[in-house]
Amino acid sequence: MKKIVQFPSWSEVPDFVKVDILQQKTYLINGVLKTWTGDFLDIHSAICIQEGTKISPALVGSCPSLDKKTALEALEAAVESYDKGRGVWATATVKTRCEALSRFAKIMREKRAELTKWLVWEIGKSWTDSEKEVDRTLLYISDTIEALKNLDRESSRLKKEDSIYAQIRRGPLGVVLCMGPFNYPLNETFATLIPALIMGNSVILKPAKNGILLLHPLLEGFRDCFPAGVINVIYGHGEETVGPIMETGKIDVFAFIGSSKIANTLKKAHPRPNRLRSVLGLEAKNPAIVLPDSPIESTVNEILMGTLSFNGQRCTALKIIFVHKQISKAFLDALSAKIKTLKMGMPWETGVVVTPLPEKEKTKYLDTLVQDAVSKGAKVLNENGGKTEHSFFYPALLFPVSKGMRIYNEEQFGPIIPVIEFEDISEPIDYMVDSPYGQQVSIFGNNSGEISGLIDQLVNQVCRVNINSQCQRGPDVYPFNGRKDSAEGTLSVTDALRVFSIRTMVAAKDNEQNRKVFETIIDSRLSNFLSTDYIL
Ligand code: G3H
Repeated sequence: MKKIVQFPSWSEVPDFVKVDILQQKTYLINGVLKTWTGDFLDIHSAICIQEGTKISPALVGSCPSLDKKTALEALEAAVESYDKGRGVWATATVKTRCEALSRFAKIMREKRAELTKWLVWEIGKSWTDSEKEVDRTLLYISDTIEALKNLDRESSRLKKEDSIYAQIRRGPLGVVLCMGPFNYPLNETFATLIPALIMGNSVILKPAKNGILLLHPLLEGFRDCFPAGVINVIYGHGEETVGPIMETGKIDVFAFIGSSKIANTLKKAHPRPNRLRSVLGLEAKNPAIVLPDSPIESTVNEILMGTLSFNGQRCTALKIIFVHKQISKAFLDALSAKIKTLKMGMPWETGVVVTPLPEKEKTKYLDTLVQDAVSKGAKVLNENGGKTEHSFFYPALLFPVSKGMRIYNEEQFGPIIPVIEFEDISEPIDYMVDSPYGQQVSIFGNNSGEISGLIDQLVNQVCRVNINSQCQRGPDVYPFNGRKDSAEGTLSVTDALRVFSIRTMVAAKDNEQNRKVFETIIDSRLSNFLSTDYIL
């Protein structure tokens, strides 16, 4: 039988993508890269390798499996460096913090190729998309630096209201626990790490479940660019590490992108929830609504990208498609034909779209979703749809999907395209109203009257309504958030600066004595806070 995808032997892997197996022994606590002598966790790739007749996920390295005592050492290092808001980093000027981040970005830029390779190996993301992830993160750092400079310029003047002078700035919140997702282990982890750091917080960073070795090239940069204890990087099982950290109640901000199950467990572990600020990116089931007058070709192209880029492993992916009965046949035929043209294979192949999946047992899970739908009346419309080869799952176009099938509600986070036919627009609207999720929606059509009616209803169901465009997070200057179970807090370059800080001010009644005190402090540059200086 013809294989749907060919896994390589080691010798068939192209040189530009090859990595040596990395036994990572170090972790970063209090400015020291310590060597771990305890247990290690093996790290397997999303990509399988053929050795003789055996095909199995490539072993690409290992990382420390830290114990509770060591995880708590990392916490203490962060707590000490913050020193209840009196630490050198917490009280540093904006200029100092921006310079540190710029130095770090320079080191990161030099590691671009290495970071790209680890993304390819650890999560199976295509070479092109992996490069984009690194570049997008570098851009995010420079945009964040510029955004903070802007904010600083705006905060560098005194206000006067009701005879009270005030200077208002944003100050850090404390110790941040930062955990990113496996699908964007660099970019989305840094989308919280960078603003947390630049606002003067101290951080404990635990990498995503896949995308661990990826951070290895950056550890020395973390050590060298920031004061000791400001950034600590730990590895290992969550129950041994982040669980005990949360139980101490010493975490001030919990920045997490992943499943609500883990988020809720960790939030509940904190003994003083009133002191915990959470920034969460969780599940979503973003629908596409295809109206009867949608142009088939452009709609299919956009939906294909929305459902299958990075194998549908994006929280913003389109995960359920509602198509009007009048055009459902033409739409499904075109979509099925288009899937066939997609290149499937290894991440380094030019033009590849669908690649192997990193999560253990993921193809089995996707298969149970397909089998469940088929047993309840759906069909897989495309040739090879749902076929599995080790860690590879051929995209499955499922139709007709209906209530009662698991795929109707569950977030597949993989290459399954479930399609529902509708006649009355209330059907997709009711789906969204009743959904536990509320991130984004895509509406496809031409009729401005119909689209405007939908916009006005759906903006209160989700946080971004996309017109004739797939759902997505970027550009990163736009707000990224969600309603209901999909998120807590808003991330964008500027919003993130606010999320990881609090407004704090110095105020004084307008009288001779206070004017003099303020003038002396400002003119003699005695304070970092009460100051009219700004950086360009
Ligand atoms: O996985 C969720 C990501 O935030 C999606 O980001 O829309 O840029 O792919 P993206």
